[in-house]
Amino acid sequence: MKKTLSDIDVKEKKVLVRVDYNVPLDANLKITNDKRIVSTLPTLKYLLNENAAIILMAHLGRPKGKIVSEMSLKPVSTRLSELLDKPVKFIGGDCVSVQSRKAAADLRPGEVLLLENLRFHPEEEGRSISGEKDKNAMEAFAKELASMGEIFIQDAFGTLHRSHASTAGIVKYVKGAGVGFLVEKELKFLGEALEDARKPFLAILGGAKVSDKISVIENLLNKVDAIIVGGAMAYTFLKSRGINIGSSLVENDKLDLSVELFKKAKDRRVDFLLPLDHIVTNKVDFESKQVPCEAIVKVTVDEAISEGFMGVDIGIKSINKFSEIIKSAKTILWNGPLGIFEINEFSKGTVEIAKLVAEATDKGAISVVGGGDSVAAVKKAGVDKRISHISTGGGASLEFLEGKELPGIAAIPDR
Ligand code: 3PG
Repeated sequence: MKKTLSDIDVKEKKVLVRVDYNVPLDANLKITNDKRIVSTLPTLKYLLNENAAIILMAHLGRPKGKIVSEMSLKPVSTRLSELLDKPVKFIGGDCVSVQSRKAAADLRPGEVLLLENLRFHPEEEGRSISGEKDKNAMEAFAKELASMGEIFIQDAFGTLHRSHASTAGIVKYVKGAGVGFLVEKELKFLGEALEDARKPFLAILGGAKVSDKISVIENLLNKVDAIIVGGAMAYTFLKSRGINIGSSLVENDKLDLSVELFKKAKDRRVDFLLPLDHIVTNKVDFESKQVPCEAIVKVTVDEAISEGFMGVDIGIKSINKFSEIIKSAKTILWNGPLGIFEINEFSKGTVEIAKLVAEATDKGAISVVGGGDSVAAVKKAGVDKRISHISTGGGASLEFLEGKELPGIAAIPDR
């Protein structure tokens, strides 16, 4: 069990908190979804209550070690200030400049400072100024960050899978370290969902590629009672069973692996469900996310898709079949949409599944949703408030579900 915020004396201390404020911004640099900021409020309010001085460390986007003004955390400082209803100090440009260090040194108990995007420094990700891999540069940067505070709190669930200066390197240079309330909650739900699940335990996996989810499927096959696979990934599995999939997306180099995964599921008596029918089209414009007016859109009679058509969503027979399994599940883990849900015409399957997961949760099931797209899907279906836990991590929650130890957690000392 890792040390948590409640195990550490933070009263009137200078506390460095790593947060994941990698939020989406529109063309006018307005935040379009502030969930990741809102999710850190319990930790920040607790620290303010303890009269700690808070120094927040975060990244935004992938600036690759250069200052990119559109990736400044300035809009985040404004939003956080509104949410906390108090000023949030922010120094632009460079998170370890003389001005930033002075702001950290002058920070009084009960005040908040947000450092500029850590990734403007290549050292954050283990590179030198010239862009070469350089562990020493990362260590020096971690030490520099650590010197601004006394205690380190890890509350950036979405970045736990990165071994960076601010996520793992910093820990050995501070006087004390633990996880914040957001990370604690994520570990509780994703950990419990995996280790101590109430049965029947159902996993619903979607998304484009089998290759992205191989390790997740392999790990989950040891734990779940049933697994539903949808999204483009399903077409690779269907093809591996000799079913015609027309011009649907497929990973031909993963057909043997798909057969192996079926076999493993059978050996472990895991129900492995694929779509029984599909919404198909002969044309889709992925760029504009539109269905061209000349496109033919239809429902298949069974799993097979005819030549010239590609699968873009699950059909009604699949929804009905999956509904039975979802209704009887006591634990549901969902990662990845079941169709091209960002195109309205092809979002029905994913939205219906989101509603069914919410209904099962209303009746007592534990539901955990992870991955940016499935999170967007539960929002689109208007059921996000009825899900037991929505993870703030994309890549991090996937790596967690693979059963890997994440560097940002490994670095935190045990209780
Ligand atoms: C995320 O958005 O998943 C996290 O902030 C991690 O971002 P990264 O994939 O750029 O490391």
